[in-house]
Amino acid sequence: MKSPEEIAIMKEAGLIVASTLAVIAEKVKPGVTTGELDRGVNKEFREKGATPSFKGYRGYPASLCVSVNDQVVHGIPGKRVLQEGDVVSLDLGAIYRGYQGDAALTVGVGKITRQAQELIDVTREALTVGIRTAQVGARLGDVSWAIQSFVESHGYSVVREYAGHGIGREMHEEPQVPNFGTPGRGMLLQDGMVLALEPMVNVGGWRTRTLDDGWTVCTLDGSLSAHFEHTVAIRASGPEVLTSLIGISNV
Ligand code: MF3
Ligand code: CO
Repeated sequence: MKSPEEIAIMKEAGLIVASTLAVIAEKVKPGVTTGELDRGVNKEFREKGATPSFKGYRGYPASLCVSVNDQVVHGIPGKRVLQEGDVVSLDLGAIYRGYQGDAALTVGVGKITRQAQELIDVTREALTVGIRTAQVGARLGDVSWAIQSFVESHGYSVVREYAGHGIGREMHEEPQVPNFGTPGRGMLLQDGMVLALEPMVNVGGWRTRTLDDGWTVCTLDGSLSAHFEHTVAIRASGPEVLTSLIGISNV
């Protein structure tokens, strides 16, 4: 459980993640390399006084994860050139004043297919549904089920081998927050818990494989995948999104 003072600092970390993701998402255009996006993060973080949480985490080599098309999460930025029609997930974590913020979003490159746009919209909405369920007195399984049932009702699948997580001074704290589950089961949500909710949604099946680079997670069947994440504080007054730009602007 976090104190109101800790949550206030986490909101500062969250705002840095949110504003940086907004800047980087604007750079996603045909011809841009994924490595340029990562360098953009480093520039933003330098200016904002934040430290990238991913760099060096279990040996991860970059500040940003960039996962394209059938890549689900943990894509390593580099020489890959983005092309019109690509679906690009950006996942970013910052450490600021000793606390973590973690968020992800998915955008299309130029004109994308109608199915790709629907996948993105359903995944973003699945996160919203999960957040709305994350109330004091609800159980973890209620959140997991809300996400799973929403996604499956649209004919897509939720990735099962990766989950959301508690977050605070560490990026990954207890509890794990799966994107599938059983309503009424699991930990009771209490005032002051902070969770990173992060549905990963595939057009095809939920199974994944990891590339030989040891990081990049892809859908096993090669289908498209999308990912949205917010860091959320559970308050008596309701869930508070810490990685939203709301608070510094009307975005
Ligand atoms: N948002 C991801 C997570 O919560 C980011 C981890 S990438 C890593 O697990 F490189 F840091 F592992
Ligand atoms: Co996360």
